[in-house]
Amino acid sequence: MIRVLLAGAGAMGRAWLEAIDADPGVELAGVADLDLAAARRAGPGLPVGTDVAALAAETGADAVIDVTVPVAHHPVTTTALFAGLSVLGEKPVADTLAQALSLVAAADVSGRLFMVSQSRTWNPQLFTLRAMTGHLGPVGSVSTDFHRAPHFGGFREQMAQPLLVDMAIHAFDAARFLLGADPIAVSCQTWNPPWSWYAGDACAAAVFEMTGGARYVYHGSWCSPGAETSWNGEWRVSAQGGTARWDGDHDPVGPAVDGPDGRHSGIGGALRVFTEALHSGVTPMGEVHGNVLSLAMVEAAVDSAARGRPVLIDDVLARAHEQAVREESRPEVRDELRSWTDVRVALRAA
Ligand SMILES: NC(=O)c1ccc[n+]([C@@H]2O[C@H](COP(=O)([O-])OP(=O)(O)OC[C@H]3O[C@@H](n4cnc5c(N)ncnc54)[C@H](O)[C@@H]3O)[C@@H](O)[C@H]2O)c1
Repeated sequence: MIRVLLAGAGAMGRAWLEAIDADPGVELAGVADLDLAAARRAGPGLPVGTDVAALAAETGADAVIDVTVPVAHHPVTTTALFAGLSVLGEKPVADTLAQALSLVAAADVSGRLFMVSQSRTWNPQLFTLRAMTGHLGPVGSVSTDFHRAPHFGGFREQMAQPLLVDMAIHAFDAARFLLGADPIAVSCQTWNPPWSWYAGDACAAAVFEMTGGARYVYHGSWCSPGAETSWNGEWRVSAQGGTARWDGDHDPVGPAVDGPDGRHSGIGGALRVFTEALHSGVTPMGEVHGNVLSLAMVEAAVDSAARGRPVLIDDVLARAHEQAVREESRPEVRDELRSWTDVRVALRAA
């Protein structure tokens, strides 16, 4: 039995409570939130607090599920790792790429597992699409069309880049998984149509050059009423040996493959993979080293849109590394970051 603390008792925290409840190998030991009333509502009768380290000492928990707001991911996860806890964190890994690199170094120094839950990548249909892609030979391009018109209210409608920062990371992470490739460069434009109810840019079009030569093309909108795509978007893989397509909701269409090879789905699947990894000691998919380049795709796309020109991922990584060293407050983590001579190599070293 793995005893977990839930950090962050907001909207997504409630979904995680259901996932914890549904997993017989996991027990909720306490709830941390700056809003103690929200923590008490989430875990009636359980220990609650505002600080995960104090709550860990009180409860003897093994792990933290970090479902706080993105800006709190870095402090909450760092505190948990150095309190001796493993962490399963919501996407995005951190609020900035620099903080994400700091978390990679913190995981290395603390020796604890830090896995990021990208719930939309844990989808058996996406695993099937990946198996189909493997049958099609060299890939020319992969595209995602994402068009919806949600009225969230709240922070998303105030963000400068709501679509890229809050949503597109799901598709970018899935594209890396699908291709088994990493980003090299991106050219991106973002815009906000006159009828948009978002303050920032609700539309984006980005072309990524990926390792191996394929292009990943993302076209999305959050103010596109009518004929909405699925929340996963509509996918097309165009390869030398043919085409595979996925509408994001139903089984993909493409070459015959031997059954779906994905066992896990959504946040419940991520939780099961996390606890299996704690028992086995095997590094899971989504471990922080492997996740960071998905956030780098977001930050590079935002940078390209701001500069109005293509951007190299290596340049974005180098700037984030400098910033991470500059901003790091823990000497042992700063030393670890300083020891990296190549960020991409450091990210492969899980
Ligand atoms: N995987 C998905 O599909 C999906 C969907 C929605 C949200 N999310 C992610 O889940 C996370 C939470 O989103 P949400 O919609 O639940 O936000 P929310 O604002 O509803 O809840 C966040 C909670 O975190 C608490 N909090 C903030 N700082 C804290 C700190 N330092 N320590 C403890 N608690 C703190 C807040 O008081 C709040 O109760 C975000 O990272 C978001 O991107 C993922």
